[in-house]
Amino acid sequence: MCGIFGCAARRDVAGLIVDSLRHLEYRGYDSAGVAVISGGELRVLRREGRIDNLAAEVARERLAGDTGIGHTRWATHGAPTEQNAHPHRDGSGNLALIHNGIVENHEVLRERLKAAGHQFHSQTDTEVLPHLIEEHQKAGKTLLEAVCATIREVVGTYAFVVIDRRNPGELVAARKDSPLVVGIGKGENFVASDVSALLSITRDVVYLMNGEVVEVRRDGIRLIGADGVDKTPKIERVEWDAEAAAKGGYRHFMLKEIDEQPTVIARTLQRYLDPERNALRVPQLDALRARLATCERVSIVACGTSWHAGLVGKFWIESHAGLPVEVDYASEFRYRDPVLAKNHLVIAISQSGETLDTLAAVRDAKERGAAILSIVNVQGSSLTRESDAVMLTDAGPEIGVASTKAFTTQLLALQVLAIELANLRGTLCDSAIVAAIERLRRIPLKMQECLTQSDAVYEAAETYVRASDFLFLGRGLNYPIALEGALKLKEISYVHAEGYPAGEMKHGPIALIDPRLPVVVIATKGRVYDKVLSNMQEVRARGGKVIAIASGNDAEVRKLADFVLPVPEVEEDSSPLINVLPLQRLAYWIADLRGCDIDKPRNLAKSVTVE
Ligand code: M6R
Repeated sequence: MCGIFGCAARRDVAGLIVDSLRHLEYRGYDSAGVAVISGGELRVLRREGRIDNLAAEVARERLAGDTGIGHTRWATHGAPTEQNAHPHRDGSGNLALIHNGIVENHEVLRERLKAAGHQFHSQTDTEVLPHLIEEHQKAGKTLLEAVCATIREVVGTYAFVVIDRRNPGELVAARKDSPLVVGIGKGENFVASDVSALLSITRDVVYLMNGEVVEVRRDGIRLIGADGVDKTPKIERVEWDAEAAAKGGYRHFMLKEIDEQPTVIARTLQRYLDPERNALRVPQLDALRARLATCERVSIVACGTSWHAGLVGKFWIESHAGLPVEVDYASEFRYRDPVLAKNHLVIAISQSGETLDTLAAVRDAKERGAAILSIVNVQGSSLTRESDAVMLTDAGPEIGVASTKAFTTQLLALQVLAIELANLRGTLCDSAIVAAIERLRRIPLKMQECLTQSDAVYEAAETYVRASDFLFLGRGLNYPIALEGALKLKEISYVHAEGYPAGEMKHGPIALIDPRLPVVVIATKGRVYDKVLSNMQEVRARGGKVIAIASGNDAEVRKLADFVLPVPEVEEDSSPLINVLPLQRLAYWIADLRGCDIDKPRNLAKSVTVE
């Protein structure tokens, strides 16, 4: 989704703004723009397409200034044209404003402003904002006061930043439901939609909460709370460093992030493991402990890949802790009437912690009295602030739009949670808990082993790169992994793929099977192994091509498969974390061979902050 960066400094910042926008590229965008103040003049440049187009224009125009804002736009209202790109101006030409989110009542506001003589030059909802601020300034308000008055008129979601050519060295920003963070520097200060744009400049940040407005000056910031009263800003230190967000020699972030999984899994486990006692320690759950011990039902809400993690989590929580679990798409949960039990626990899973559908589901569940536990990768994100308890994952910055390492760390956190719930509720005996922890400890090494076996994956990708459809099958714990394999393939290679529980194939999808359809089957040992072998036979009998995920020395599978993508043998409970690795790589190689923009697939955004 759109990206925001702004700064008030004592040096030329045009280049810095463009560079910082590059750190936000991964969020997805289709145009970009920048505005700077120099010698009391406001200069705005906007371009369609990549940031490189904007950078070339900034250089050609010798754009310079010590206060400025920059934006990457992911079109919602109005086509991705230069005219619709941000920053947008007011009628007098004093203001420039950038915005993430959606002004839902923009039509009403636009009509009112037009009647008052304002002219508009874009199809965006955003353009009403600078005009509204201008109106309030005309009535004698300062920029800060005008922004505070404007947000009282706006319905919708926003993170916006405005500059005024008459106030050099100052930015004013406001936030509701779209993330915004202030970066604290020395004699200069910043604002961004995402900490990754700030990491190369500062790691001291202030996260803005809903309804807050901030005035950012070179020498300090003034924070106004949602109640309109001044607040003392809480400065927090970001743990991630800039290096973690760089490509480190890899061609794509996605490939780097796939390879990082053994490390980030070990790191996430460390967070929850007491090595001296060989026991879990999850103080993060303390606030909810009494509730967890007596809770009767669990609902998991999430979107996309995080929803797939939730589906796997359901198996673990039900089998370890004996608790009934429902898994909902967050976007559906809020629009039905979920029946929540007394002592209901809602688990929200999100890499970004900013997915609007997930946040909305959490707010809805809270209103209905549920306790909220979230599993989140981005520390300080909105979801962490709105939850009763938070289990962080340690995936580090995930830049590739296709989620990989965030997914496996979510699985790890869910395993930890399931074991801890079993411990609290007394549903697993001590030796079973020790065995489960031992299994967790073995995962990073098994992942490492799995990632060294990539030749077969590449060969399968080359063989089926031109297939127009894929079917992914799995059962039990690995049915969600089939869904995840299909999602990875379709989002980065634009090839149609469907995931199915293997046993469901005969109820419909079997009609699709012919020699042009590659069927990826997860066939590792476990409770449903024999059933899966039968499903493979059903595919073979109809001429379908089978790509099996299986142990390298599984002779039965070899007889039935055209390709085997080998994985090391692990206990069934750990298998989702291993089996997903060749599927991530398969999607990666097919997308690469098809020449796709892997880290920034078309139409997608890293963090989906609109409904
Ligand atoms: O940040 P979140 O985990 O809340 O994001 C949820 C989905 O938007 C995300 O998983 C999406 O499906 C990814 N592109 C999958 O690779």
